Amino acid sequence: MENQPILHPDRNLAMELVRVTEAAAISAARYMGRGNKIEGDGAAVDAMRAFLSTVNMKGVVVIGEGEKDEAPMLFNGEQVGTGKGPEVDVAVDPIDGTRLLAYGRHNAISVIAVAERHSMWDPGGSLYMDKIVVGKKAKEVIDIRLSTKENLNRIAEALDRNVSDLTVFVLDKPRHLKLIAEIREAGARITLHTDGDVMGALLAAAPDSGVDVLMGIGGTPEGVIAAAAVKALDGGMQGMRAPQLDYEIDRLKEEGCDLGEVLTLDKLIRSNNTYFAATGITGGTFLEEVRFGEDGVVTTYSMVIRSRTGSLRFIKGVHQLERKQMPK
Ligand code: FBP
Repeated sequence: MENQPILHPDRNLAMELVRVTEAAAISAARYMGRGNKIEGDGAAVDAMRAFLSTVNMKGVVVIGEGEKDEAPMLFNGEQVGTGKGPEVDVAVDPIDGTRLLAYGRHNAISVIAVAERHSMWDPGGSLYMDKIVVGKKAKEVIDIRLSTKENLNRIAEALDRNVSDLTVFVLDKPRHLKLIAEIREAGARITLHTDGDVMGALLAAAPDSGVDVLMGIGGTPEGVIAAAAVKALDGGMQGMRAPQLDYEIDRLKEEGCDLGEVLTLDKLIRSNNTYFAATGITGGTFLEEVRFGEDGVVTTYSMVIRSRTGSLRFIKGVHQLERKQMPK
């Protein structure tokens, strides 16, 4: 037995996933600033799909690009991976922040989350949800049913800080005018971003990122992906369906959804065995951008989180595109 290799399939999975987001980010990065959301997204999806097919897992996409007829690739229900290895749910966002990429703005990232099969919440017809995300120290005190002010007071107390020293990440959308006014009224600082609330959730859940809280309404699929990262970082998160579109409201009614239901972190992701990988596309405070260098050398900056161990790794990848199967 002594000569038998010790197998750590779990660890390998975490590292394999980062290759998937690296490939998607490299492909997408070529479209930076070209003003076209669709082209960049298509390139990222193709690369992600090609690399996913090499990952040793029996994966089913539960959060993907949409239902099959709308999205020919990475559609919900699609089987991905080699078919060997653990049975897992897969949530992908080849680009979170397609507009950020199209206009060359900060914080477009490529992300993937994986958890044990049947453990990720199925959003059904929900497209938008209200979210609150914090780091470990404040995870027990948040309650999305309470007022903005009450939550900020509780978070400040848990962090042993003044509310005026808290920084809240909010998407800069007309629907958030009231929320922004409430945060200002409570006295906290605000960082506004046009897009990218998966990155917002990462910043809020990770220690020492400069962001303490994420608040506001964003995509529901992005909420489930963020939940995998928040869980792995041992942070806190709650959500609530917040339909914004008429047909979304109709569909939720048909589904008989209780709009007041609190979507806890455990509801969003039941498993405690989650993996999350993200690679920066346009760069930002947390993950730097894809850099195209001399002689086909491309540099990427990624993070990988594995919930079981809680380890968070930042990985700088230096890729010789000519020498390996990476998107050129
Ligand atoms: P995309 O990359 O799919 O465009 O998503 C960007 C994003 O900002 C998400 O981070 C966020 O959850 C969602 O869009 C918010 O939706 P909307 O822009 O419709 O308010």
